[in-house]
Amino acid sequence: MSAERGSAIDLRRRAIDLPERMDADDADPEMLARTYARFPYVNAILAGRRGLHSREIDPRARHGRIRVLDIGCGGGDIARYVARRLRRDGIRAEVIGADIDARAVRWASDADDEGLVRWRCVSSAQLVAEGEPFDVVLSNHVLHHLSAPQLADLLDDSTRLTAPGGIAVHSDIARSRTAYALFDALTRPIAGTLLKNSFIREDGLLSIRRSYTAAELAAVAPPGWRVQRRFPSRLLLVHAGHLY
Ligand SMILES: C[S@@+](CC[C@H](N)C(=O)[O-])C[C@H]1O[C@@H](n2cnc3c(N)ncnc32)[C@H](O)[C@@H]1O
Repeated sequence: MSAERGSAIDLRRRAIDLPERMDADDADPEMLARTYARFPYVNAILAGRRGLHSREIDPRARHGRIRVLDIGCGGGDIARYVARRLRRDGIRAEVIGADIDARAVRWASDADDEGLVRWRCVSSAQLVAEGEPFDVVLSNHVLHHLSAPQLADLLDDSTRLTAPGGIAVHSDIARSRTAYALFDALTRPIAGTLLKNSFIREDGLLSIRRSYTAAELAAVAPPGWRVQRRFPSRLLLVHAGHLY
């Protein structure tokens, strides 16, 4: 998709009717695998994982063993990043990477040579039923995939999964013309090389079109959740677990 055509794209409202190719049941397995393999490059630049670790995970890890859940972990690089840092700092931790897509869980598990993370093909609702709370519940680039009822369920499950004193943080793209133009410009030169035969560029541009603005996310967020803006073009939807 060219910048010229990009400038004609309507970003005033969410394009929720445009499906991402990686979500299709019949997505090409090799392209999907290459997409999971390329997520770390995108996330290293965009996901703000270092800030999340130092703000939310590290302080809670000082009190002893910590449990972290990555919902919709995809290829699992964020869960691996968190687990690796906790291990490096000598902190006892259990990090769970959960996704409802068995293809993602299989790929993430195969990529985890060090056995850092417990990978699970489960929904957040199944985890709630297990009744084991987490100190940090996080997700990255999941919210824009969900329908309104799915979002409501995910947020309800997240609050139930958050231990007293814990936190739930869902991180996603903020839809804007700048975000679209930036992603277009960053990925265009590597579309035929690093990103070749992956869904990263096409689905990434679609993701931006499907994503919320801060005002839209605040409007659908249930009580107790707050929206924070982060650079570059990020939104965090945050809920602090209650202290009883
Ligand atoms: C774009 S990928 C993001 C993967 C990863 N979090 C990342 O940042 O690279 C979105 C993932 O969310 C998963 N997903 C979508 N809805 C979900 C749900 N309700 N519960 C768990 N995972 C979900 C999809 O299967 C997909 O693997």
